[in-house]
Amino acid sequence: LEIYLNGLNGVVPDLPMTYADLEARASAAMSPALLSYVAGGAGDEFTQRANAAAFGQWGLIPRMLRATGSRALSVDLFGMTLPSPLFLAPIGVIGLCAQDGHGDLATARAAARTGVPMVASTLMNDPLEAVAADLGDTPGLFQLYTPRDRDLAASLVQRAETAGYRGIVVTLDTWMLGWRPRDLSVANFPQLRGNALANYTSDPVFRASLAKPPEEDMPAATLQWATIFGNPLSWDDLPWLRSLTSLPLLLKGVCHPEDVRRARDLGVDGVYCSTHGGRQVNGGMTALDALPGVVEAADGMPVLFDSGVRSGADVVKALALGATAVGIGRPYAYGLALGGEDGIVHVLRSLLAETDLTMAIDGYPSIADLSPEALHRNAFRA
Ligand code: FNR
Repeated sequence: LEIYLNGLNGVVPDLPMTYADLEARASAAMSPALLSYVAGGAGDEFTQRANAAAFGQWGLIPRMLRATGSRALSVDLFGMTLPSPLFLAPIGVIGLCAQDGHGDLATARAAARTGVPMVASTLMNDPLEAVAADLGDTPGLFQLYTPRDRDLAASLVQRAETAGYRGIVVTLDTWMLGWRPRDLSVANFPQLRGNALANYTSDPVFRASLAKPPEEDMPAATLQWATIFGNPLSWDDLPWLRSLTSLPLLLKGVCHPEDVRRARDLGVDGVYCSTHGGRQVNGGMTALDALPGVVEAADGMPVLFDSGVRSGADVVKALALGATAVGIGRPYAYGLALGGEDGIVHVLRSLLAETDLTMAIDGYPSIADLSPEALHRNAFRA
């Protein structure tokens, strides 16, 4: 309505109204190396494309005469009442998508303006404390890449607790960097320039462990990063991870029901079904295909979901398949690159409006009305 009313006064939106336009215009605004980093995926990017295309196999079945004035979109997550089921997935060094290099802070402010929670990456260009301050009352979760140095891991988690984050998300699928041809083609890691990685390089444990200041030199910094975070965890590490915090603990990248059950048994509080947006490995199943099995095995435990969500209809379908909350990655990175903090707010408000309209017109006035029975397997695939 706001957009149409502005239009009557001759004011048209200066930010894109479709994902395709958002991607195209943001791509033009980024340097080739930054674009490779944000847009790229593993291999020929089949899994990345399939993540998004997988939503096309499902159609929401319209129901009539169930209209209500407004939709009930809030969700409960670990005792928090979130205004909507959306959240911002962790994006390392998203700082570089902002003109001033402080994109993590811009993301936090956009989260604060919309009430959409942010999952803050270990690999932020600003300290997690500064990000928490800009989040204000909007919840943040802290995503841990688990360093080899257990004291450093404990310090990061402790800092997150002290700064007021409401949960710890341990990402499990990134202990090696995937085969990403776009990054390999430009042979450039813009993500390690400038204030890159200040979140962990400012950590007192990290600084104390260094004989000399953090590496400024790019190749050396890359090797240092790979050494610190190239840490293959195993199930045996789970009790230790659990012991680090009394906050809700979630595992990100979990797609197999057996892994969900094992996580539950080890005292994990939630799982995060994701294929890392197809960035880490190619040829695997899509996150959406994994979701029903994960939800069933979670047996009531919260399930966060991301990978390939591009529209309000996608959000509704993921909710119908049992996701507790639905995350976006690249869409908001593009919003940031194109329009800064306002660009992220625009992406989130558009997605929320479309989610709300989809549920309204199709006759599902609350998230509680959504279930797999609301979905039909489409015979036609575009
Ligand atoms: C990511 N992702 C990610 N995940 C994580 O746990 N820690 C991180 O630091 C990052 N970094 C990161 C950088 C960039 C540029 C992208 C695009 C993604 C993965 C992210 O959290 C999420 O799983 C995917 O982005 C979701 O897929 P879509 O929405 O991008 O398709």
